[in-house]
Amino acid sequence: MRIAVMGGDGFVGWPTSLHLSDAGHDIHILDNLSRRWIDTELGVQSLTPMDSIQERTRVWHAETGRRIHFHLIDLARDYELLKNWLAEYRPDAIIHFAEQRAAPYSMKSDRHKNYTVNNNINATHNLLNALVELNLDAHLVHLGTMGVYGYSTVGAAIPEGYLPVGVETTSGETVAQEILYPANPGSIYHMTKCLDQLLFQFYAKNDALRITDLHQGIVWGTHTEQTRRHPQLVNRFDYDGDYGTVLNRFLIQAAIGYPLTVHGTGGQTRAFIHIQDSVRCIEIALNNPPARGSRVEIFNQMTETHRVRDLAEMIAGMTGSEIAWLPNPRKEAPENDLIVKNDKFLGLGLEPTTLEGGLLDEIVEVAKKFAYRVDRSRVPAVSAWTKDIAKTINRDPEGKKLKSVS
Ligand SMILES: NC(=O)c1ccc[n+]([C@@H]2O[C@H](COP(=O)([O-])OP(=O)(O)OC[C@H]3O[C@@H](n4cnc5c(N)ncnc54)[C@H](O)[C@@H]3O)[C@@H](O)[C@H]2O)c1
Repeated sequence: MRIAVMGGDGFVGWPTSLHLSDAGHDIHILDNLSRRWIDTELGVQSLTPMDSIQERTRVWHAETGRRIHFHLIDLARDYELLKNWLAEYRPDAIIHFAEQRAAPYSMKSDRHKNYTVNNNINATHNLLNALVELNLDAHLVHLGTMGVYGYSTVGAAIPEGYLPVGVETTSGETVAQEILYPANPGSIYHMTKCLDQLLFQFYAKNDALRITDLHQGIVWGTHTEQTRRHPQLVNRFDYDGDYGTVLNRFLIQAAIGYPLTVHGTGGQTRAFIHIQDSVRCIEIALNNPPARGSRVEIFNQMTETHRVRDLAEMIAGMTGSEIAWLPNPRKEAPENDLIVKNDKFLGLGLEPTTLEGGLLDEIVEVAKKFAYRVDRSRVPAVSAWTKDIAKTINRDPEGKKLKSVS
């Protein structure tokens, strides 16, 4: 297949591009490199030293003889460029990672809220709009998030996208329907993913676009089979308070002797998936497109759920780290249960990589190797969800005064 990977320079996009190139597909990465600019804005860098996208693709070619093409295009702002590119290359499938993906970054200030909404919604809409305009029947696979469901405890398993309901008619009968699971975003970032869902519903119904939406859990790990092949193919690895995700952050904190940062009671339960499984799921989704004219296909792309404090205690036990119990910068339920259905990927052959799989040690090794690159002052999470919460985020786990942001 000829596959366009939108946002293919990012944490999930890069290993996905390598995996699919390795499987024999013709890969074109479209990216505006905004994630690298955000590193500059925040004064942080990936824990792992990342080369330029041009250098990464050159090394991949030298290692494998396979080419990955790169095109510098902003999906949200360069509509004509995007449309012309799609018209010329006419991909069979498009994977859409090209969004601002950090909830804390999206809550940093009014400017960051605007940026996240403008970037994410325009990127998604421009893509859908261009597909219709060009009459291009490419299968669109989008990376959404488990966060669209919200994290309220209802005591029932979260289904894969659609909720069966009974609607009482005016004549008193109950009619069975399946509706999108009620959206319940917990941040501006999550809100954009909820809005994306509506864009997909409309374009699948109105224009018969073939769309798969993957509601992904928190991705952990860094290496995949392909990124291990050469030091310069290494994946990015975020540890800072905005972009670092919880499990990867704990592992880095353990490696540099920093207290594990648990916010609130640590009673938040979240869904997780290893990066290797994430790229496999995307391949499975590509191989199982919905039929033209059918509703949006939705998969829950996660393999296990864990409570944050259990993860912290497990890693503290493994590494001898301290746990720092900190005020929560987010506005969220202090404790929640989470049961999630993921039967569709399991039914299509996914064999989950679990936390017990020995990969935690590998990540601690990576973290130790590059520990000299960590700026400890960037570890605390300082983006607060409201101005009142911001006042409570004033000390880092080592007792230093913090400048909080909301
Ligand atoms: N990492 C996770 O734990 C996780 C969990 C659930 C869902 N997701 C979703 O998966 C997708 C990829 O996540 P990631 O962790 O790889 O993020 P990332 O920030 O590392 O990668 C996103 C890439 O998209 C590019 N991009 C952003 N806006 C763009 C635009 N307007 N035009 C062109 N390129 C643009 C960035 O430069 C970056 O290379 C995101 O949509 C995210 O919401 C990620």
